Amino acid sequence: MKIAVIGCGHMGCALLAGLLKSGISDAHLIPIDPDERVRAQLEQRLKLHCGSAPDAGLRAVQALILSVKPDILADVARQIAPYLQTQLVISVAAGIRIAALARWLGGYSRIVRAMPNLPASIGLGITGLAALPSVREADRACAERILSGVGQIVWCLDEDQLDALTALCGSGPAYVFYFIEALEDAARRLGFDDTRARTLARTTFTGAAALAAQSGAAASALRAQVSPPNGTTAAALALFDAKRMREAIVRGVLAAHQRAIEIASAPGQD
Ligand SMILES: NC(=O)c1ccc[n+]([C@@H]2O[C@H](COP(=O)([O-])OP(=O)(O)OC[C@H]3O[C@@H](n4cnc5c(N)ncnc54)[C@H](OP(=O)(O)O)[C@@H]3O)[C@@H](O)[C@H]2O)c1
Repeated sequence: MKIAVIGCGHMGCALLAGLLKSGISDAHLIPIDPDERVRAQLEQRLKLHCGSAPDAGLRAVQALILSVKPDILADVARQIAPYLQTQLVISVAAGIRIAALARWLGGYSRIVRAMPNLPASIGLGITGLAALPSVREADRACAERILSGVGQIVWCLDEDQLDALTALCGSGPAYVFYFIEALEDAARRLGFDDTRARTLARTTFTGAAALAAQSGAAASALRAQVSPPNGTTAAALALFDAKRMREAIVRGVLAAHQRAIEIASAPGQD
């Protein structure tokens, strides 16, 4: 199956890396990005030749992944519309509704919305998918085949649920990186040099995350195992609670969700 990726910045590049890792050959991937630096990076990092603008080559692909910023998706849709025949269009643009994209594509309706996240680049992503009821089973299966190459997939009931998943999983890696940054700061304050701070924070994080993923126990039960009353960990957790950290995290995710709703209702989409 030939797949074009339109827009090869952070997410487009992550998807290309994950698709290569899943066994799709470079001959079957057609990346397109107008940014010369992005094209050079793709060539260097993934050994992929990247085109600078959509062209008639798009007629030969089975699927196009649109991975440009939401605010330019309308322009990009108009650029690719002349080349659409029977291809599946997969949009990863946060908050952009299928109905709006279909209109920008001149009424083309073979569209699936996807919300992947950056660990897709190493095959450990989680991607939410949403489609209108009219989308054929074969097109849904095609989207599943492509995105399951870069991690797990979850079908959402509708686009509202995909916006909720965006706040959780699309943005989620940033929350995790933020926590890792804080652990690294703490390690440096405790006297470790940069290299060791990095190793200590990341290995602790990935080890605990892998344990949580493998264990059937609730996260609260796992936490209790590490934090007997009056111990060292309990001292840290008491401060987190006093600062209402858990509530701040929940509110942060809800703020991301609110932003996805705002993008979805921005002028031009209705
Ligand atoms: N980053 C994430 O973690 C994440 C997660 C889930 C979903 N997404 C979605 O993925 C999309 C891309 O996000 P990103 O973070 O990867 O943005 P990004 O790093 O800015 O990448 C977008 C790329 O598209 C290029 N582009 C601009 N116009 C184009 C055109 N006409 N044809 C082809 N490529 C074009 C941009 O080039 P220029 O720089 O020259 O404009 C840029 O290299 C967004 O819609 C976002 O909502 C991102």
